[in-house]
Amino acid sequence: MLSLPVVRCAGQVLQAEAPGKIVMKMRRRRLVLVLCMAGLCLISFMHFLKALSYITFSHELSAFSPSLRSIFVDSQFFWKQNAAEDVNTGPGLQVTVKAQNGARPPLHRALFELKDDEAKYFIQTKAGAICFKQGTKMVAPSVEDAVDWDRSVMDKPSVQKVVNRGFSGRPRRRWVGCPCLPGWHGSYCGVPTMVQYSNLPTKERLSPRPVPRRVINAVNINHEFDLLDVRFHELGDVIDVFVICESNFTAFGEPKPLKFIEMLLNGTYSYVGNKILYVFLDHFPSGGRQDGWIADDYLRTFLTQNGMSRIINLRDDDIFLINDADEIPAHDGVLFLKLFDGWTEPFAFHLRKSLYGFFWKQPGSLEVISGCTVAMLFMVYNGDGIKLRRREYYLMPNFRLYENSTGHILVPWAVGSPLHFAGWHCSWCFKPEGIRYKLLSAQNGDFPRWGNYQEKRDLSYIRELIQTGGWFDGTEQEYPPADPKEHMYAPKYLLQNFNKYRYMLENPYRKESWDQGAVMYNQTGKIT
Ligand SMILES: *[C@@H]1O[C@H](CO)[C@@H](O)[C@H](O)[C@H]1NC(C)=O
Ligand SMILES: *[C@@H]1O[C@H](CO)[C@@H](O)[C@H](O)[C@H]1NC(C)=O
Ligand SMILES: *[C@@H]1O[C@H](CO)[C@@H](O)[C@H](O)[C@H]1NC(C)=O
Ligand SMILES: *[C@@H]1O[C@H](CO)[C@@H](O)[C@H](O)[C@H]1NC(C)=O
Repeated sequence: MLSLPVVRCAGQVLQAEAPGKIVMKMRRRRLVLVLCMAGLCLISFMHFLKALSYITFSHELSAFSPSLRSIFVDSQFFWKQNAAEDVNTGPGLQVTVKAQNGARPPLHRALFELKDDEAKYFIQTKAGAICFKQGTKMVAPSVEDAVDWDRSVMDKPSVQKVVNRGFSGRPRRRWVGCPCLPGWHGSYCGVPTMVQYSNLPTKERLSPRPVPRRVINAVNINHEFDLLDVRFHELGDVIDVFVICESNFTAFGEPKPLKFIEMLLNGTYSYVGNKILYVFLDHFPSGGRQDGWIADDYLRTFLTQNGMSRIINLRDDDIFLINDADEIPAHDGVLFLKLFDGWTEPFAFHLRKSLYGFFWKQPGSLEVISGCTVAMLFMVYNGDGIKLRRREYYLMPNFRLYENSTGHILVPWAVGSPLHFAGWHCSWCFKPEGIRYKLLSAQNGDFPRWGNYQEKRDLSYIRELIQTGGWFDGTEQEYPPADPKEHMYAPKYLLQNFNKYRYMLENPYRKESWDQGAVMYNQTGKIT
């Protein structure tokens, strides 16, 4: 597209050189030459910029300072180029309304424009401390007359600096810290317990961001619709865009109805606002039927590549978070990542593990690497989410280069710990029919594939498994049912809607003998 003017321009140069040596013509020739040179410069500059903003970050990129890089990647103009290309292939654009006269594209082609979150998360006290509202005792005397931390009069010196000045200069008598509420830590009261007790090696280096990062949460969905509602309620106000991929094939390769888009179109998810970017996988990868892992990986690859290519206005420091539908990170952990600088990457979450519902808790925690910045996703993982979930980040060809460009040593870490969960992994949390469907649609891998055995697909057999917490291989649950009063037993939205989601919250087939210590719940989710 851009090379066309070059050819035309060269043609003019040749024509201009052909005529005789009249002064006028000389002048015109010189003018044309100058214009051509200028045009060439412009065109190559644009190529250069386009290359910079392109999905795969080139090696040269790391030579740039991060701020310069983000200016280029940030500049909307070059993403609009992609948008313009899309006009040719698709019927129109949602975001660039003027591109087509009102014709809305199918959802799986629509673009999504990330915007900055304007919410005021911090206040600045008279003494100069910057405090996170949600974690601060707002009635404490030291917070009196505090004002919203203003981004425009952003004074760089942080609370720590103000405190330090006390040692060198005039001794400060006034305490300038923030009074934290229980469960919040650090000088800004912005570190939730699940981060405070994590293995984050840089807790001393954290600083609040005047402008929050945007968070992208990418998920493949099959029939985990209840858990999807839970995700949207838990994370709706911290995630900026949910990239949800649905396929008309099961992971096994059988046709499957498109239920999610139906619900998306009929307004079922209007409560999360316009935060959903719909990805449609309309084919099954070749070889996926023989080797189920191919299909499994491909889902994540397609989800990331298709989804990210349709997000406009991405920035280097935005966060990419990829989950399975049954992995739900906790709100406060994600909010911390959004509001603070100074953590390292990639990062995982320690998720509370349970089977069939939250009542069959498994020992330990599930710790899957699931997030990093957008810069790292593209520079290290080639924009492929499945690579992020593998642990071999340090073997990726560009890892050291990227690490160097950040100016820090990158150590992976995990939000939470096996004792302080930072979310939930609720495995096979369906009613018996849903478990049966999951058996049938599971990929052709991860053997033994229980869906291949008729007796394992039997609903009364499945009910028995739910009752006893046993597994398809005949092993039995070794632990007693979990106590619903436990901290982080289940996401808040579930506890608040106990009756609707009762099947996940208490064992539907529990035996009489467990009823002695029965607890009472009410609609607010409080346990009495
Ligand atoms: C899935 O959708 C694509 C595109 O609409 C279509 O070509 C394909 O036949 C569908 N596959 C199944 C199994 O429905
Ligand atoms: C939307 O569609 C789903 C699935 O067909 C259905 O269960 C739900 O009741 C519908 N909701 C509305 C508001 O029509
Ligand atoms: C990292 O950057 C420094 C200069 O900033 C350079 O000397 C060094 O070779 C770089 N290392 C790698 C592995 O690129
Ligand atoms: C539910 O429990 C909470 C706390 O114990 C109580 O304040 C509330 O009134 C109860 N609601 C109902 C409907 O019983």
